[in-house]
Amino acid sequence: MKRIGVLTGGGDCPGLNAVLRAVVKTADNDYDVKVIGFNDGYEGLIENRYRELSNRDVSGILTRGGTILGTSNRADPFRYPVLQGEEYVYLDRSTQAVRNFEALGLDALVAIGGDGTMAASAGMMELGLPIVGVPKTIDNDLVGTDVTFGFDSAVVTATDAIDKIHTTAQSHHRVMIVEVMGRYAGWLALSSGLAGGGDIILIPEFPYDIEAVCNAVKERNAAGKRFSIVVVGEGAHPAGGEMVVDRRIETSPDAIRLGGVSRQVAAQIEGLTNLECRVTILGHLLRGGSPTAFDRILATRYGTEAVHMVMRGEMGQMVAMKGSNIGSTPMSEVAGKLRTVTPDHPLVKAALSLGVCVGLPMGVPIEESLAEEATT
Ligand code: F6P
Repeated sequence: MKRIGVLTGGGDCPGLNAVLRAVVKTADNDYDVKVIGFNDGYEGLIENRYRELSNRDVSGILTRGGTILGTSNRADPFRYPVLQGEEYVYLDRSTQAVRNFEALGLDALVAIGGDGTMAASAGMMELGLPIVGVPKTIDNDLVGTDVTFGFDSAVVTATDAIDKIHTTAQSHHRVMIVEVMGRYAGWLALSSGLAGGGDIILIPEFPYDIEAVCNAVKERNAAGKRFSIVVVGEGAHPAGGEMVVDRRIETSPDAIRLGGVSRQVAAQIEGLTNLECRVTILGHLLRGGSPTAFDRILATRYGTEAVHMVMRGEMGQMVAMKGSNIGSTPMSEVAGKLRTVTPDHPLVKAALSLGVCVGLPMGVPIEESLAEEATT
């Protein structure tokens, strides 16, 4: 092995630069291997846009958010959007990507990304590209790993926001609704909701019953607690209802962008309780800023291990956290799947023990409520 490539794909998050730094330094210090960085995820590999990354290039980037390479969440090599006239057409550019990879004399590729990048990488592996994956996303929804880097930083940012919103909630005796990202998984809402002392936490996995939500608010008021904090995952939806779609990005492999459910929740709570509500949608704030110490360490461990895996020839694997140990999972097992919150997860149990309403009737076993919802 003399030369390897690296790219960052999908939505950005804190810790991407920390992984790049670890990859370049480990390749150089431990193996004397050169690293080529592709710009904007698979787009750079398809369009042959790259640059060599030296130790000097990655010096000082550990603490920086975003990615020095740039990224793209619409660069699927098998369905690559190309503007023809005023319309996009979709072309299979995977063979071009393989040709560019070979022309550069690369021995392997480290692909840092979420489910979209892992799915593309699993496909490129089948075309003979030797790839090792690194799991990233603030959503923490990748299967095969206990945690993705970027998640902890997003939880810390969301928790800080919830803490700040608490003061207005208390002072003005309002119901404050905080919407967080997370797509189809509730990890970010559940974790920041618990850390921020949320009274009601709504997540996509548990379709909510608005009466149960309002009862929880009213009970708090009756007990003299004249405010409530509701933390809502962007994918939360009422029982029998749909997720709220903010927009569609047709060139993106998953076109749907969620957002705005908190406004519906606020309107319903106001209507049913007569209490004043306010909405804060945190959105892309959650993807920005410097990574937490936890994410810096995780990203560093992932980056160094990815290079060791490349050198051991463990291609087609994604580096993964299993308990407190670093392991790996085949990328083919990650692609196209989602890791979501289950009713028996310890975080859910802890929330229920604290009396947090998760959008379902209180006092009824959660599995029972969900089963009942499924049949109605
Ligand atoms: O997957 C990360 C994520 O931030 C999701 O939580 C969110 O739904 C989505 O990306 C937003 O994507 P975009 O940056 O394209 O708006």
